Amino acid sequence: MQALVADLNRHLRLYHAEDAPEISDAEYDRRFRELQELEEAHPELVRPDSPTHRVGAPPAEGFATARHDVPMLSLDNAMDADEMRAFDERIRRTLDLEGPVAFLAEPKLDGAGVELVYRDGQLSVGSTRGDGRVGEDVTANLKQLGSIPLRLAGEAATHPERLSVRGEVVLPLAAFARLNERRRQTELPPFVNPRNAAAGALRMLHDVDLQRLRSLEFRAYSVAEGLPEPIARQHQVLEQLRAWGFLVTPECRVCDDIEAAIAAHDRFLELRETLPVEIDGTVFKVDDLALQRDLGELARVPRWAIAYKFPAQQETTKVLDIFASVGRTGALTPVAKLEPVFVGGVTVSNASLHNQDEVDRKDVRVGDTVVVQRAGDVIPQVVQVVRSKRPKRTKRYRLPDRCPVCDTPVVREEGVAVTRCPSPACPAKLRNRLLHLAGRGALDIDGLGEKLVEQLLDAGLVERPSDLFALEREALLGLDRMGEKSADNLLAALERAARTTLPRFLIGLGIPEVGSGVADLLARHFGDLEPLVAASQEELTAVDGVGPIIAEKVRVYFDDASHLEEIARLRERGVCWPAIERREEGPGEDGLLSGRTFVLTGTLDGMSRSEAKDRIEAVGGKVVSAVSKKTDYVVAGEAAGSKLRKARELEVKVVDLEGLIELLENGPPAEPDPEPAAADAGS
Ligand code: IVH
Repeated sequence: MQALVADLNRHLRLYHAEDAPEISDAEYDRRFRELQELEEAHPELVRPDSPTHRVGAPPAEGFATARHDVPMLSLDNAMDADEMRAFDERIRRTLDLEGPVAFLAEPKLDGAGVELVYRDGQLSVGSTRGDGRVGEDVTANLKQLGSIPLRLAGEAATHPERLSVRGEVVLPLAAFARLNERRRQTELPPFVNPRNAAAGALRMLHDVDLQRLRSLEFRAYSVAEGLPEPIARQHQVLEQLRAWGFLVTPECRVCDDIEAAIAAHDRFLELRETLPVEIDGTVFKVDDLALQRDLGELARVPRWAIAYKFPAQQETTKVLDIFASVGRTGALTPVAKLEPVFVGGVTVSNASLHNQDEVDRKDVRVGDTVVVQRAGDVIPQVVQVVRSKRPKRTKRYRLPDRCPVCDTPVVREEGVAVTRCPSPACPAKLRNRLLHLAGRGALDIDGLGEKLVEQLLDAGLVERPSDLFALEREALLGLDRMGEKSADNLLAALERAARTTLPRFLIGLGIPEVGSGVADLLARHFGDLEPLVAASQEELTAVDGVGPIIAEKVRVYFDDASHLEEIARLRERGVCWPAIERREEGPGEDGLLSGRTFVLTGTLDGMSRSEAKDRIEAVGGKVVSAVSKKTDYVVAGEAAGSKLRKARELEVKVVDLEGLIELLENGPPAEPDPEPAAADAGS
């Protein structure tokens, strides 16, 4: 217990006072719980300096202090639905209630807690939470935030003499992305997450970065002193805060009982990716203020509120090794082998470090402790190295000079990030080309996975992709653990896969830069392979959606005689596709949506994705798969994920099904005057 107390206190200080955490929030919560459980079992051993008695860390030197007349408390956590039910039980037992308790569900904002004190409607002091009783006076910095009213709105008669408003200062994701981009350009280390960037910004003493401060947002959630008499419910507190001119998170909902609250949490978890700010759970508060008073507070947390946390999206773990993996184009990718860690709903044991430049920028080394992130359906990433935990005598990582698979010296061309194995005979390339060709988006060869590919290669049955389509039953039966049934299944799968479509075939070739979106465009434009192979670079660039870089890659690919030979062999061995009716330039050249690009994400209730695509294209619009700055609209349905988040980051317009139908029927609205956009209230 003594060790845990010391350990937790140290991490509290790193987190609150230095904005430089060494362990993830989830890890902190786990250690905190362990201590809580030990203290419950051995109350006689509870230490006076235990972090279970307090919140946060004392104010840092250099700031004037500000006392919180009403302490700023922390929140107890619930990790699953049963813990939520136990919380509800406890409340009803304490209050001796028969019926259900209503809760207000609010997104748990992942930022820094702040108190604002108003006197006669005028902002007088703004402070950080500090240790809950005394915080840092950061009034001057807070005054830079547009979402903090310097004077309360509404009738002066409704302004209490003294008002204490509590809320969270957050950095919206779009601003976080911009800020980190700027830091990257000036070679400053990027912030790990929006919360650290926000907390750090608030506590800038010198060289105050105004741009960073002004991108912060204050979202109000409670009134600690000065609440007008007639207000009796937590949700009415929020209404009053709005009336005074504060920004209040719009997603807050009243839930009639605990089951409704649990459902609201699940809904927030779905919404998470789509919100403009980071949230890390749901806060539930007993809606009835009189009941809140009856329940009261413990030293550190109120009995009437709880934070139901989302599964963590960031964890810290150790880099056990870094190795180079060779892809289908021969690119060497440095991969960090990690001590397995559960993050974002999956166990992560490898994370790509992309290329040598990325390794250099993050300076990831074997033995390092790193922050790993997996958000939504995005592949796991190493966000940052925890420098303070680097062991002695570590070395910078460099990709090897020779291909780890075939020992050919690698090459790195001037001005590009990729290091490549140039050998056409590199077995790693062939292996990955086969896996790519067999993949879902390409020929989709059922049952041809890594194991079988290895076996085929080891047995020398396949030396190039086209050999797959000449495999014979007898030869397959000679493979280890290959029975008659499996052999026949594989042959049948190959036969099915051979009858494909032009876009799938193009994807399967593995031409650099040609993924499903580009393959679709090329197939539709040229209709068949021959005209595409014959197209000049200019003709390729003329295809809407194909730029000079893609055009060059395509040209280079088809200029290689060995590629054409392999294509011929594939066709001889049965790979075929129907020609596509050539799309004359634009049904809807003058269509309502011509020139607009769309990205579809999530499920649209009432219209299938393919119907939406057809209808958009019928009026001249284009549907692409990835969101970029050039995207005009993201159509977001139920359970939309990372694309929607990306859209928010890039400030791309987002519409729902209704919005899409409006666009299909009436086209885009007339362009508004180019006035500066009003601050988005977070809807
Ligand atoms: S209420 C006594 N509401 O989470 C109630 N807090 O882990 C305590 N937080 O210190 C505050 N979103 O900084 C409340 N909607 C919300 C919140 C919220 C984020 C923060 C707050 C608090 C911490 C506790």
